[in-house]
Amino acid sequence: MAEPARVLELAGASVQVFENADHAALAAADRIAGAIRSAVARKGQAVIGLATGATPEAVYARLVSLHRAGGLSFAGVTTYNLDEYHPISPHDPRSYRAYMHRHLLAHVNIAADRAHVFDGTVPRDAAAEHAAQFGRWIAADGGIDLQVLGIGRNAHIGFNEPTDLPVPEALNLPCRPITLRPETRALYAVEFGGEDRVPRALTVGVAEILAAREILVLAFGETKADPVARSLLGPLTAECPGSLLRAAPGRVTWIIDEAASTSL
Ligand code: GLP
Repeated sequence: MAEPARVLELAGASVQVFENADHAALAAADRIAGAIRSAVARKGQAVIGLATGATPEAVYARLVSLHRAGGLSFAGVTTYNLDEYHPISPHDPRSYRAYMHRHLLAHVNIAADRAHVFDGTVPRDAAAEHAAQFGRWIAADGGIDLQVLGIGRNAHIGFNEPTDLPVPEALNLPCRPITLRPETRALYAVEFGGEDRVPRALTVGVAEILAAREILVLAFGETKADPVARSLLGPLTAECPGSLLRAAPGRVTWIIDEAASTSL
């Protein structure tokens, strides 16, 4: 069990700083495994919200090895992924469906119909209804027990991009289609062959994220030092979606490495 080098209490959250990303990933995986075991023991099901990106890859690798060693069953687990590009084929290796298959779903005993990722193939005029339906599925499953979150360089959570909405409105943003901001498209331009070829996206809302019983935010590396500091120390504003997590005091744990903590 990896122990944090230090723990800070900031903005109603516990911030665990680990010596490096490997230790942080181990701790995050142990925390997720613990949440799965306790929710399954308590109510027969664990509902876990999952993130993609480079950050959680080592976390998923650790969950797979725990499973292979016989220490973690996914039999009672239901998952909801935070986001997906739209349009995109699930067979496209850049899709988050393909990512989840590669890093977790293909390697554990999760029931195929319990692993939910937005359908990147729905027609554009059906995307809003599909996203709303995703939100209703989450609610019908009793909400999210543990939400795993990364944070974008512009502090987006899921694909809830910075916006100039007043905070009360931003806190209520539901599952929906979204146009990615230029700085986000710039980051993915190489992968998609140009900024204007980066698709739109579907995202779980700020409202569903904040309703999770527990929220685990992962941030590793120096490119995350700025969004981490703005989320925890800057103004509470929808221009910094990470700061909206302060609306869930006592339920948010940040698991970060030293490099991501340098501006705190
Ligand atoms: C991506 C994803 C997010 C992710 C974040 C950080 O755009 N949509 O869900 O948390 O940005 O990604 P990374 O871990 O690769 O830095």
